[in-house]
Amino acid sequence: MKIERVSLKSFNDAPDGILYIAESAKNIPFAIKRVYYINNLQNQKAIRGLHAHKKLEQVIFCINGSFSLTLDNGKSKKKIVLKSTSMGVRLRPKIWHVMRNFSKNCALLVLASDYFKVSDYIRDYQEFLKICA
Ligand code: TYD
Repeated sequence: MKIERVSLKSFNDAPDGILYIAESAKNIPFAIKRVYYINNLQNQKAIRGLHAHKKLEQVIFCINGSFSLTLDNGKSKKKIVLKSTSMGVRLRPKIWHVMRNFSKNCALLVLASDYFKVSDYIRDYQEFLKICA
């Protein structure tokens, strides 16, 4: 299991902020159809993800705070702590992903290759293993 990092170009205008840029088919390896974000992670024990997708491509960023991301391709697992705003991780299809250990100020941003489709989710780990085999 290899972790594929995605770097965003940034402009540091300190002390007036840092600007980050994500562009389809340039640093993001697909055409972006959907963007979603998650904040208010007040529960330190929250566990998110716990699924894989059949076809959806995504890149996940931590745009504030930190969290840990575990990726699993059905054969091996890798864990990474995301805390750099400019560095995301590619979530290819058929990668079981779990996010946890959220800092209180954590904010996640996800860029996705398609609209939300319930039918694209694999939420059962045993089914996931069968699909990967
Ligand atoms: P889910 O993808 O399970 O969140 P996470 O992987 O972060 O734990 O989505 C949580 C709920 O939100 C689920 O009921 C589906 C809904 N949802 C949408 O309706 N549209 C979306 O684009 C996303 C990402 C989720």
